[in-house]
Amino acid sequence: MMLQIDWQVERVPEAEEYLARIADFCLKTEGIDLPVYAQLQITDDDVIHEINRQHRGVDRATDVLSFPSTDCTPDRTLGHCHKKLLRERDESGCCFLGDIIISLPRAQAQAAEYGHSLKREMAYLTAHALFHLMGYDHMNDTDKERMRAMEEKALNGAGIGRVTDEELIAMAFKAMEFSYSPYSHFKVGAALLTKDGKVYTGCNIENGSYGATNCAERTALFKAVSEGEREFVAIAITAEKSAPWPCGICRQALNEFAPELRVMVAWGDNRDEAPLSTLLPHGFGPKQGTLEFLGKE
Ligand code: THU
Repeated sequence: MMLQIDWQVERVPEAEEYLARIADFCLKTEGIDLPVYAQLQITDDDVIHEINRQHRGVDRATDVLSFPSTDCTPDRTLGHCHKKLLRERDESGCCFLGDIIISLPRAQAQAAEYGHSLKREMAYLTAHALFHLMGYDHMNDTDKERMRAMEEKALNGAGIGRVTDEELIAMAFKAMEFSYSPYSHFKVGAALLTKDGKVYTGCNIENGSYGATNCAERTALFKAVSEGEREFVAIAITAEKSAPWPCGICRQALNEFAPELRVMVAWGDNRDEAPLSTLLPHGFGPKQGTLEFLGKE
């Protein structure tokens, strides 16, 4: 799938790989393997307002607009008109699906509201628009459910779906199975959720020296940071029989990147949670460590 992006506002380079990935997964989810393309215009509120007014008679700005070039419908979505699609290919052998317009300031505001990254919000909006181009709609409950299910499938396939608390906890329990704890026999698992919706898991790894032991939370954190991640929204920590609230060192390590992190603990069927700021009050953060803060040159 080709997504031709026209940045009319300041480019967000880190979003491009995400948008290309989600576009591919939308097509894959619909079962299309023909060469198709769509145009994506990323603009500001004034421009999207004007397009909305002119083409839809709606006198306000919005987050995303889509203008299909195919005549697919919810009853006959693109995946069901392959033959027609073949006939409509242009001279380069490609089929044009239509235009998408996204308002960057809207996407920024929504990302902040939902507490996830801008590139993740832009991927959601692009997926929504692409399914419109393929015939999906949300005019009635049945169509809406079908469209939502397709969006979710594509986003999950691309690894940027919404992760529920229960899913994060389940991932931590799974990671706990790999715990290397021959000395304490206290198995711990952790699953750390990034702002982009990716999950990094970890377990505790003990050591005969005892001191070289690494907790599950730091295993997950270090895996994530060493892969380039810097922003986190939640962590689930699991143990078998008692609440595995993070140790002091892990609280400090997590505080370096995410002082507002949601910390969930689960043991057996029990659940509890607290913000990291409550677990580490008056914490020493990255700012306090700078020479600037210490008043030195
Ligand atoms: N442990 C963790 O993995 N996370 C914590 O925050 C508390 C302690 C591990 C370390 C060690 O392997 C075992 O639990 C007993 O202390």
